[in-house]
Amino acid sequence: MDWKSFKPLNFGNASIPRANFRGTVERVPSIVVVGLQWGDEGKGKIVDLLCPAFDAVVRYQGGNNAGHTVKFADRHFALRLVPSGILHAGMPCVMGNGLVVSPEAFLGELGELHAAGIETRGRLHLSNRAHAVLPHLAALDRAREEAAGTGKVGTTGRGIGPAYELKAARCGVRLSELSSPQLEERLRAQLVRVEAELLALGGEPLGEPGPLADRCREWAAELAPYLADTEHLLHRWLEEGKSLLFEGAQGSLLDVDHGTYPFVTSSNPTAGGASTGTGVPPTALDGVLGIVKAYTTRVGGGPFPGELEDEHGEHLRRRGNEFGTVTGRPRRCGWFDAVAARYAVRLNGARVVALTKLDVLDEFDEIPVCTGYRHRGRVLREFPSGVETLDGVEPVYELRKGWRQQTAGTLEYDQLPAAARDYVAFLGAQIGAEVAVISTGPRREETLLRESATLAGWLGGGIERILAGRGA
Ligand code: GDP
Ligand code: IMO
Ligand code: MG
Repeated sequence: MDWKSFKPLNFGNASIPRANFRGTVERVPSIVVVGLQWGDEGKGKIVDLLCPAFDAVVRYQGGNNAGHTVKFADRHFALRLVPSGILHAGMPCVMGNGLVVSPEAFLGELGELHAAGIETRGRLHLSNRAHAVLPHLAALDRAREEAAGTGKVGTTGRGIGPAYELKAARCGVRLSELSSPQLEERLRAQLVRVEAELLALGGEPLGEPGPLADRCREWAAELAPYLADTEHLLHRWLEEGKSLLFEGAQGSLLDVDHGTYPFVTSSNPTAGGASTGTGVPPTALDGVLGIVKAYTTRVGGGPFPGELEDEHGEHLRRRGNEFGTVTGRPRRCGWFDAVAARYAVRLNGARVVALTKLDVLDEFDEIPVCTGYRHRGRVLREFPSGVETLDGVEPVYELRKGWRQQTAGTLEYDQLPAAARDYVAFLGAQIGAEVAVISTGPRREETLLRESATLAGWLGGGIERILAGRGA
């Protein structure tokens, strides 16, 4: 091909106005929503809030290890696999190739949505390149955790790690293969591999692949209406000028490359994952909105500088309702860690953030913020790559004044207590990002949008619809 016949696609070209699904012509870019801590930052809530400004919502990694809570009016949903956009009538949603999907969990979640009156047919598209998480993978995940004792990762036990391992080992089963004539052969190869490890861990034999193949074929029939070549769908939408909202699962510090390895999940929640996990090129991603909690939590094992095992930690857990959405486990709590969040801002290019759960800090006289890690007599300002170092650090705190006043439901920045505004400004300066959204309660209605040129550029006229949806 020579340059004369080269026809560029208009991905991410800022000068081209885009006609969205609503028929209006305006430029609304595609952005990635990503967690900047160890997960559970409130991604589901923020994605749900922003939906009215976008044409489709796209999940790009993880599986049913995620638990995204959305509350509005008197409704309450906990989504695990399906993108949070599904709760908006008619909103198209995509689950990309980067996900690992348990057919059982997916169909169960659809059942719950349908029972709640949420229709999914015709607007939920599941990549046939996504890998299946079959029951023996969850069994292996749990057997490994039991055997690991104190050194365990503390996984969600959903088989997520084994599914990604098999994908990388070219031994996985894609969703499209669940109905393939070669299915039994593929399963046999997988079962042999998994069974050997399960038996070594004291587990039960897995048996012949026949019965599992039969179940897979039943699942395949139920999945069929949802399966699609989602990359082609997404490319077409982008060429038509549609704007996409990418919904990350987990958090940047759980990223298999950039997180606190080996205490991580097995995918790339960081913004780059939005491209590899969907087939949408990086040039089509116009921005990244980081989601960060006003303090820190983590579920499962691994280093946690400044973990609070005292009454303050207990207060955060109780007031913030910090119990896992998926497993119900109590989340470990600590003060805001600016070293970790600054690192995550840089990893993702998340120069604009939504700060969630500010209301949880309403009752403190003083609020410490970790601004450095003391390690062998030096103060580190950069997040270390090794867990051995991270395990040995002692947080350096700066004290901020508390506000001892209710913030829940505040819709104007100026109406926040002065000390709360000071806290927000301090965190923004520490992590090098603009705090453009502030959440003061679990419900959609409890969210404050600040004037921000970047946010306005991303949301365009959609801001009006967001404010209307928020109930303001
Ligand atoms: P995600 O995994 O990032 O979507 O977050 P989760 O849904 O697992 O956890 C966040 C929890 O905090 C959920 O129970 C939300 O309902 C709740 N939540 C979100 N934002 C706020 C907030 O600003 N204040 C309070 N009090 N709760 C919030
Ligand atoms: P959302 O999307 C918090 C943690 C587990 C464990 C580690 C590996 O709701 O933010 P895995 O089952 O993925 O192999 O477990 O990752 N983890 C999460 N922690 N929020 C999540 O998702 C998580 N998904 C996985 O607790 O420490
Ligand atoms: Mg969660």
